[in-house]
Amino acid sequence: SGGPQETMRSAHELAAKLYYHVLMLTEQGSEGRTYVKDRGFTKEQIEHFQIGFAPDRWDALVTVLNKRNFSLDEMVKASLIGERESKEGYFDRFRNRLMFPIWDGQGNVIAFGGRTISDEKPKYLNSSDSPIFHKGQTLYGLHLARPSIRKEGVAVLFEGYVDVIAAWGAGMTNTIATLGTALTEDQAKVIRRNAETVTICYDSDKAGTKAAFRSAAILEQVGCVVKVAQMPDGLDPDDYIRTYGANRFKSDVIGASLTLMSFKMRYLRIGKNMQNEAERMNYIEEVLTEISTLSRAVERDHYLRQLADEFSLSLDALKQEQYQIFRANR
Ligand code: GTP
Ligand code: MN
Ligand code: MN
Ligand code: MN
Ligand code: MN
Repeated sequence: SGGPQETMRSAHELAAKLYYHVLMLTEQGSEGRTYVKDRGFTKEQIEHFQIGFAPDRWDALVTVLNKRNFSLDEMVKASLIGERESKEGYFDRFRNRLMFPIWDGQGNVIAFGGRTISDEKPKYLNSSDSPIFHKGQTLYGLHLARPSIRKEGVAVLFEGYVDVIAAWGAGMTNTIATLGTALTEDQAKVIRRNAETVTICYDSDKAGTKAAFRSAAILEQVGCVVKVAQMPDGLDPDDYIRTYGANRFKSDVIGASLTLMSFKMRYLRIGKNMQNEAERMNYIEEVLTEISTLSRAVERDHYLRQLADEFSLSLDALKQEQYQIFRANR
């Protein structure tokens, strides 16, 4: 049954089984096994996320697909294999990489992310978009996380697959990730259908912080309540869990996540000396501008009071000032 898309999904399922088998049971998988052991992935994690290994060969998958009578031209369109420029044959796209199957919302394998186990570039090789895979509409791990996300009403959003896998190892089952690109509105809508609150927990570096602001805006636009979790400089969730353990990740990172407004306030403070009057006034002005973008009056009131308390200002004066800013920005 099914047309070409069904065939492409079957081929991906077959490829995932092959890669898993190679990793777990074969001589060709030994370097992959060393890598997962060094990284500390457990057997449970490997099984749950169907992690596999693509051997360092040009024809491992091509041979299997050919034997099962898959049309290799169709498999090129599915982004599973490549075609030689001379058009005289096909080759495995993924070689010598740790393989992460990527599923659609129903749990069908529709793509792969392949991580190099050496220093090859790119670090992650991902399937190109195909008739069954649309990167901008797919969220890593969604079908696995959906029951927990619905139950808790909260989705935790990471940057990387391995962060999802590490968090699952730490007992957090409501986590998902984008696929190496900025969050799209389509992905945000998918998240909103499953959860009202989203905790963004991106890598703690410049790129991650910038991306957190962008994703937050998109998620708010589709109606999500956004929180932001932060880690010490330079770490990502997987690093943090390996360094400080599951409990501290849950209490000190996820448990300590900030509202989006508090996150913005903290960000605006960076590099400013609050003892300096001009810098302090500048900060207050910037925060007031942010507060005036909040749509709910109770929220505006809450942050105005917080600001008034912190800097011993009268609430009336802040409201006056904010009204000026609000009018100027209309
Ligand atoms: P590790 O280095 O294995 O811990 O992975 P990571 O998840 O920390 O990777 P990183 O934070 O650098 O990137 C986050 C996500 O971006 C990954 O899960 C990939 O989806 C994607 N990504 C990272 N590097 C590349 C790359 O070189 N090419 C592409 N296409 N995507 C990448
Ligand atoms: Mn990177
Ligand atoms: Mn990163
Ligand atoms: Mn990372
Ligand atoms: Mn990492």
